[in-house]
Amino acid sequence: MACILAVGVATLDIINTVDAYPAEDAKIRAREQRVCRGGNATNTLVVLSQLGHRCRWAGTLGGDYAAEWVRAELKAYAIGLDACRLYRDGDTPTSYIVHSMDTGSRTIIHYRDLPEYGRQDFASVSLEDLDWIHFEGRNTPETTAMMERVKAERPSLRCSLEVEKPRPGIEALFPLADVLLFSRGYAVRQGHHDAPSFLHSLHGRFPHAILTCAWGEKGASGIDHAGRIISSPAFPPPAVVDTLGAGDTFNAGVIDACLRDYSLRETLEHACHLAGMKCGHAGLGFIRRRTS
Ligand code: ADP
Ligand code: FRU
Repeated sequence: MACILAVGVATLDIINTVDAYPAEDAKIRAREQRVCRGGNATNTLVVLSQLGHRCRWAGTLGGDYAAEWVRAELKAYAIGLDACRLYRDGDTPTSYIVHSMDTGSRTIIHYRDLPEYGRQDFASVSLEDLDWIHFEGRNTPETTAMMERVKAERPSLRCSLEVEKPRPGIEALFPLADVLLFSRGYAVRQGHHDAPSFLHSLHGRFPHAILTCAWGEKGASGIDHAGRIISSPAFPPPAVVDTLGAGDTFNAGVIDACLRDYSLRETLEHACHLAGMKCGHAGLGFIRRRTS
């Protein structure tokens, strides 16, 4: 069991499942509606907590009813909230998600008006007991400062960075991470059509880091210190029920595997296995549900 801190967001997700994605200006009925807590860093923590790790979240919370709900859910997964910053007048960021049964896609419209977690909030967070720290690649000037603090104060503390989309200045964060978790969306925006070619293009740039890139139903690839590219297939569940948070689950699997000192192949297989299992269940409580 390791002690893990993740810096990033929590959201309110309103998920409407529809037969097929609507045309613009259409009026359609949803088959089903689900409201749950989301947000990449907190999703990753919820999975890590079910794998037996001691987890803490560093992020901002609003003062609205949804924030109470976010708090209650994270507490139910034993995720520590001591590093959070509360904005009493703030509202919880909300994602309006259309899940199409036709294609399995999930289109996300995200609205936020809550200040981001920053270096000042992070300054009072103790790094002493941590075995791992994970950052979302967002709010880059502040995240750079937070990651630099980690490197200055606890250079041996292993650190992962999620790179979900291109954001101004995000490349400045890459040399500060030991594990870089790229998404397909980021690789495609860099002009690549598969994970190996994207990872190959970064070969030698971050020689001390492990780089991974998840690619939906194609699985995921990684590149090791020697420049070897390793790939794992996806592990499809008997029926794909919900892919929202599959990437966040994959990231949890990589962090868990690194903490167990798995090889890169074992790491990718473990993460794809976990993410595949998640796709067979609604929400992220799939490990707890399976074992309870
Ligand atoms: P995101 O949630 O960021 O869009 P991806 O779609 O890249 O993430 O998926 C992350 C991981 O989840 C993949 O590497 C794969 O292992 C698993 N996964 C995603 N979709 C499926 C699927 N339809 N069947 C099995 N595994 C999947
Ligand atoms: C899934 C997710 C959702 C959230 C959105 C935020 O990866 O974390 O739960 O609404 O992405 O970008």
